Amino acid sequence: MRMYDIIKKKRDGGELSTEEIDFFIRGVTDGSIPDYQISALCMAIYYRGMSVRETCDLTFAVRDSGDKTDFSAIKGIRVDKHSTGGVGDKTSLVVAPIVAALGVKVAKMSGRGLGHTGGTVDKLEAIDGFRTTLSEEEFIAQVNRIGLAIVGQSRQFAPADKKLYALRDVTATVDSMPLIAASIMGKKLAADDDCIVLDVKTGSGSFMKSVEKSRELAQLMVDIGKSAGKKMVALITNMDRPLGYAIGNSLEVIEAVETLCGRGPADFTEVCLTLAGHMLSLAGMGTPEEGRELAKQVIADGRALKKFAEVVAAQGGDASLIEDPSKFKKAKYEYPVKSAVSGYIHGVDTEAYGLSSLMLGAGRNTAEDAIDYSAGIVLKKKTGEFVQKGETIAVLYSDNATCFVAAAEKLLAATAVEREKPADEPLVYGVVV
Ligand code: URA
Repeated sequence: MRMYDIIKKKRDGGELSTEEIDFFIRGVTDGSIPDYQISALCMAIYYRGMSVRETCDLTFAVRDSGDKTDFSAIKGIRVDKHSTGGVGDKTSLVVAPIVAALGVKVAKMSGRGLGHTGGTVDKLEAIDGFRTTLSEEEFIAQVNRIGLAIVGQSRQFAPADKKLYALRDVTATVDSMPLIAASIMGKKLAADDDCIVLDVKTGSGSFMKSVEKSRELAQLMVDIGKSAGKKMVALITNMDRPLGYAIGNSLEVIEAVETLCGRGPADFTEVCLTLAGHMLSLAGMGTPEEGRELAKQVIADGRALKKFAEVVAAQGGDASLIEDPSKFKKAKYEYPVKSAVSGYIHGVDTEAYGLSSLMLGAGRNTAEDAIDYSAGIVLKKKTGEFVQKGETIAVLYSDNATCFVAAAEKLLAATAVEREKPADEPLVYGVVV
């Protein structure tokens, strides 16, 4: 089999066979297929799409690309959640400790920032010393001991996705339904959890811009998961505005800690409670509404925050940063972005907000780029709020002051200010089972 022929077949709209997909993923994993051919096939898939059968084959090949791991040594029901990616989306940092604090095991495999979106692994690495790579033994032992471990992709866990993810990130091939489904479900099935809650983002800051497309992606992933014997639920949630006020790695960890203390932004807290409710419900702890009440309780009594600090310490991170987030290293420079007019923030291009944060150093432009963990944006005004001319709508943070003007221009151009107050939008558009 030749990679050239596989690329040509997909480029010309053909359907790849199971053997061709397996050949591709084997070559991605063992390094025998060069980056340019992997990228070319991703682009062909981006334009030509994949049938449900091809998407399932790709997902199972990604799942099987790692060493076979036996998670049966983890005692109890294991539940996971995964987001399709958004801006300011730090939900995993809050919902995973909530659910673990209630005695349900969370063995979590997360991703890095992708395109304009942030990633849980990058956020956790903003905590000094935090190790996002654990051996299989460490991972299993930690989940058994404290109920929660969070790692990135590695040799054991869906390594093909690690490679594909990094290349898609820099070749404009992220927002492809089959590639997203195979990436997310390949990782989730490799971790072999019993129950999976998917947070499928919709709107200007997500990879699927319409509710219809998001629903289609949600159903595809739910069906793939069910076909592998998993209990599945997907929520379609609003990404027409950043979630919470903080965008950027350490800024988001700080906002997550505030939320675990019960002082989080209303929209972000609401999405976290809804996701946690569904995770607990799938794990057999009542209805989603009952799960949500339990989630509120562990925030109120401090158990969720304690669990987060415990995980940070267990994975080598500096837990004193969680006790006192003011100790996080601050960016060298800050820059207020002021509104040129008075009016209501009517709507924002959330993807452009994510790209503005990337320009500040919070994400990568090439696979090799280093991240400035303290870089990012703190919003002072969000959609629906009134802003006076000259008032600050956001503060930008970076160690590189030369990027401020362009990042501020991008953010301002992405913010529509109008005389009329916009209609409220739902935070959760629906549940797919
Ligand atoms: N999250 C993932 O893990 N993969 C994608 O392709 C998109 C979001």
